[in-house]
Amino acid sequence: MSVTFAEKLARMPGYQAGVPTGQAPEAIASGGIAQLASNESPFPPYPKVVEAIAAAAGAMNRYPDPDATLLRRRIAERYETEPARVAVGNGSCEILLAAAEALCEPGAEILYSWPAFSMYPYLPALTGAREVRVPLGEGDVHDLDAMAAEVTAATQLVLVCNPNNPTGTHIPATEVAAFCERLPGHVTVILDEAYVEFQTHDDPDATVDLLADLANLVVLRTFSKIYGLAGLRVGYALGSPKFRAAIDAVRQPFSVNALAQAAGAEAILHQDDVTRRVESTIVERIRVEDGLSELGMATSDTHANFSWIDLGEAEEAAVVAGLAERQIAVRPGTPLGDPGHIRVSYGTAEENRRFLAGLGEILD
Ligand SMILES: Cc1ncc(COP(=O)(O)O)c(C=O)c1O
Repeated sequence: MSVTFAEKLARMPGYQAGVPTGQAPEAIASGGIAQLASNESPFPPYPKVVEAIAAAAGAMNRYPDPDATLLRRRIAERYETEPARVAVGNGSCEILLAAAEALCEPGAEILYSWPAFSMYPYLPALTGAREVRVPLGEGDVHDLDAMAAEVTAATQLVLVCNPNNPTGTHIPATEVAAFCERLPGHVTVILDEAYVEFQTHDDPDATVDLLADLANLVVLRTFSKIYGLAGLRVGYALGSPKFRAAIDAVRQPFSVNALAQAAGAEAILHQDDVTRRVESTIVERIRVEDGLSELGMATSDTHANFSWIDLGEAEEAAVVAGLAERQIAVRPGTPLGDPGHIRVSYGTAEENRRFLAGLGEILD
């Protein structure tokens, strides 16, 4: 007799890391590898946040606060809402997985656009729900009409990635509102806004304002991107108290560790730093997009901290390999759902120059 694993194991898509495991942290820290494959911040956390982490480190003999009380209170204050409406998780990924577990039985449907965030296929695979993918529309933008047309009595969860990973495209809050209003009351919409701070269509809080009128909307955000805390794993969702209770019921109690709680609670106080970092990211976005256009490369209209590049005649694997030889890590489009593309995150000005120079040499 040999061990048999659960059937769902065969359905799991598996996660491909942005840079080869093991060597990455040292090589990136030394400036050797330009890590432009995971949409992280190229900047370390703010000094006050590092201080808060260091101060919390001395109490590591204790379990963290299972309710993340201070973190949830600070997030609630930032968005002028109640802590009961704030769910936290070990990265926003944990909240996505917990939401699927809390909402879906086998036979339910989970609907999302594709290509989108590579974690979404985990949700139906884990829960046994049916996956319904709707291709992105014109310009790699979510086709909300086509998505609404796929909603059925079985649809439990709709994921809208905005700005969308990997295309960077963004839908304004008014369109999100109109879409949510069309959906039946049994459907939960998670608006995944990991990159919302970088978009220039709306006030980044425009979608948070929608929560007052849309009972089934959940706004999902993270400390991994603009706050530069990807390594600590902490994300949050704003939604109904029922949604928060459901997430807490299925996630493990201590999933947001004490360092992550301390860091998030401090980071959210520094909105001036957020603004400065958004501005510097937009400067780099313009640099990279202009450089790509000079190389004759087409990109989608990005509102994020990365560009999605249509390689045209150039071969994806050769471009990725050529960049890797130059110590530049980017994401190939094939595993992200669209062959013939690469996704490049914005690094420091120097890393972005290296990327453009390297790509220029390869295309020559
Ligand atoms: C669209 C989107 N959502 C969520 C996440 C998950 O972020 P985290 O789990 O680090 O909060 C990512 C990470 O790349 C992402 O691209």
